[in-house]
Amino acid sequence: MQEFTGRALLLTGAAGGIGREIAALFFARGASLLLADLDEGAVTEMARQMDPKAERVIAARYDAGREDDAQDIVDRAVHHFGGIDFVVPGAGIYPECPVVRMDAADWRRVIAINLDSVFYLCKAAMPALRDDSAIVTLTSVAAHRGSQNHAHYSASKGAVLSLTRSLAMELAGRTRANAVSPGIIETAMTRDLRGQKGEMLKAQTPARRFGQPGEVASVVAFLCGNDASFVNGEVIHVNGGLYMAG
Ligand SMILES: NC(=O)c1ccc[n+]([C@@H]2O[C@H](COP(=O)([O-])OP(=O)(O)OC[C@H]3O[C@@H](n4cnc5c(N)ncnc54)[C@H](O)[C@@H]3O)[C@@H](O)[C@H]2O)c1
Repeated sequence: MQEFTGRALLLTGAAGGIGREIAALFFARGASLLLADLDEGAVTEMARQMDPKAERVIAARYDAGREDDAQDIVDRAVHHFGGIDFVVPGAGIYPECPVVRMDAADWRRVIAINLDSVFYLCKAAMPALRDDSAIVTLTSVAAHRGSQNHAHYSASKGAVLSLTRSLAMELAGRTRANAVSPGIIETAMTRDLRGQKGEMLKAQTPARRFGQPGEVASVVAFLCGNDASFVNGEVIHVNGGLYMAG
């Protein structure tokens, strides 16, 4: 009997670097999964490889900026699994643009995909959340420090953190809500950043390296599990010391 046997995870951004590791870890611990991503082909293939009989893993095309897509994946999770135990809204984008060149559409797109999506998904999931359930959001070191040329991103992640804390208050008793705040993790999202400023950023990081997606996934799993049963409204930094020292 694994820790998450009989429990259902609703995961967005599931085809991303961090999402894939979260999916693999929860699956290994016995959970059922709904894998949602804009990249439908990628999540469909993930689900097929993990669970060819589609008993414990299903995939869905999902656009994070659309409220009706959030309701749709919640309905599908409830249909297949009877309810939802864990919600991890991981879908996100990280475009580069200084504020001086940022127009309203640039701003709105990032806020819609990174922030509005978390509101849509958590609100839609609320009626389906079972006892001892958990929401774990993905914020960022950018929420705490700001991020040069990514003001929309850092603003969206700061708001995700405060939204998470508000959810922790409103849902307390049945659902815990916490955030994980990664530093620089080796995924496609940070490829350009690591290419441009990698050596400087590593030098600022006491661990002298970037993080691996699995090192985020393990903290997400901790926050969902019984070992974190009294952890609510918190943020756990996963950055090799970059935030403390940078
Ligand atoms: N990689 C890092 O260093 C880092 C640091 C801090 C926070 N984060 C956060 O962690 C989460 C996962 O990041 P990652 O590094 O795995 O990124 P990634 O780029 O590897 O994956 C992001 C995933 O989101 C999906 N996506 C993009 N737009 C979407 C949309 N409109 N609707 C649905 N899905 C969409 C992509 O298809 C992709 O599968 C993000 O929320 C990100 O902001 C990442």
